Amino acid sequence: ADKFPHMKRNSAFKKLSDEDIAYFRTILAPSGITQDKEDLQVFNSDWLRKYRGQSKLVLKPASTEQVSKILRYCHDNKLAVVPQGGNTGLVGGGVPVFDEIVVSMANMNSVRSFDKVSGALVCDAGSILEVLDKYLEERGYIMPLDLGAKGSCHIGGNVSTNAGGLRLLRYGSLHGTVLGLEVVLPDGTILDNLSTLRKDNTGYDLKQLFIGSEGTLGIVTGVSILAPKRSKAINVALLGLNTFDQVQSAFKRSKDELCEILSAFEFWDQAAIKLVKEHLVAGANDPLESEHRFYVLIETSGSNKEHDDEKLNQYLEGLLTDDVVQDGVVAQDATQIQKLWAIREGIPEACSKAGAVYKYDISMPVPVLYQAVEDMQDYLTKNGAFGEGKLFSSVIGYGHVGDGNLHLNVAASDYSPEAVDLMEPYVFEWTAKHAGSISAEHGLGVSKNNHLHYSKSPSMIHLMKRFKSLIDPQGIMNPYKYLPDN
Ligand code: FAD
Ligand code: MLT
Ligand code: ZN
Repeated sequence: ADKFPHMKRNSAFKKLSDEDIAYFRTILAPSGITQDKEDLQVFNSDWLRKYRGQSKLVLKPASTEQVSKILRYCHDNKLAVVPQGGNTGLVGGGVPVFDEIVVSMANMNSVRSFDKVSGALVCDAGSILEVLDKYLEERGYIMPLDLGAKGSCHIGGNVSTNAGGLRLLRYGSLHGTVLGLEVVLPDGTILDNLSTLRKDNTGYDLKQLFIGSEGTLGIVTGVSILAPKRSKAINVALLGLNTFDQVQSAFKRSKDELCEILSAFEFWDQAAIKLVKEHLVAGANDPLESEHRFYVLIETSGSNKEHDDEKLNQYLEGLLTDDVVQDGVVAQDATQIQKLWAIREGIPEACSKAGAVYKYDISMPVPVLYQAVEDMQDYLTKNGAFGEGKLFSSVIGYGHVGDGNLHLNVAASDYSPEAVDLMEPYVFEWTAKHAGSISAEHGLGVSKNNHLHYSKSPSMIHLMKRFKSLIDPQGIMNPYKYLPDN
């Protein structure tokens, strides 16, 4: 296949025939079937333009029953399937490798119910995150997760990747906020677990297995999630700092001094702001007078504006007095809040515009977080591969300090095996040596599956493989991904 030179199609999978298409036509509306070559392109390539598959068929079911019929047929006929949400994934998990059938969840996008007392929202898996958040905003609630891709990603995709994002510090991971799931298993069985209960200790918590399983165990069709109340008072501040020690110091103090109102603590470096400025990401403007080595975005969310303002101002004054930060601004209204967030949320897009970008999404203890960026830069320089006219043009660091999650991005002129061979396994060995995870929140897909052993023991990987063959004995669900090839 085009971008997967080292991989071979599994010949055990059946090739799509006219007979198969004729069957799908009996269960789906004409608009639910895409075969047009041009229309297929967007489903075959990923957000980073790094991976490209060769699927000849996209199915867009409109109900759980239709998903069930599709999977039962694929299971019986050994047709490989790739579930696809908003196709914003960053590890190549949502696009086919060869000719797998894409099952797009885009036509399943309704809210099924909302409980105004508990905040339990039940919706179709194809609902767009931002649309759900708007729905909740009108009712005084908020989605417990937020990410730069909110305008396109689906809640089913978020659940399947166990997406972290910008609010995890405050509301925790989806393993805690998801109350229940409806999942169609590979053989077509509908697993109805759309509970809205906060407490339920009856049996194995099966939904947890599907959270973060990246479409390898079935298709998530419905999600029940606990939405918190939307905070009435939001503040956002942008700080400029000289060292990563200062970033850490500001973080420690934010936990002490802002405590319960702290809702985000994000950072980025100078290389990131340079790219944002260079590529003029819409709405992103650096309001600080001079450029800094480090930037921190702090958000507070509370219920009493005066109280929050006072706390934040005291905290910021303390940082300035003690020379922890060199400069800072506080957004004065909702538009300014959005503008500050636009800088942070624009970084992935800015990085992607630089040409090719290698994304390492690693977690580790906060004290060594930025060392990863510096060490990578030194390592590439020593190998003569970094700088003008070289293979790599910049090493960029940003991420979720509050979660110990660094986004180590390396910009290059093109995607090439040479570039990969230089950085891998170097970066994974570095991460394992520092007690980190090689994938903090983006998942494994095709880009990290064979490196799983850096973060999980052989016995854990063995058990994962047993789960996979128990639930998907034909191996039709999202093949070639997630678990190691051997
Ligand atoms: P897709 O990309 O379509 O699919 C992702 C994986 O889930 C694939 O393996 C696919 O097969 C599977 N899948 C999708 N839907 C289903 C389903 N219904 N049932 C079973 N399997 C399914 N991620 C973070 O964690 N934090 C961030 O802050 C963050 N920010 C981002 C910002 C930008 C600008 C971009 C482009 C991406 C960002 N991401 C982030 C990565 C990505 O958006 C998330 O992983 C997101 O959760 C993927 O959702 P999706 O609907 O686009 O899924
Ligand atoms: C983010 O935090 O911006 C996302 O995880 C996307 C990325 O890493 O580029
Ligand atoms: Zn992130």
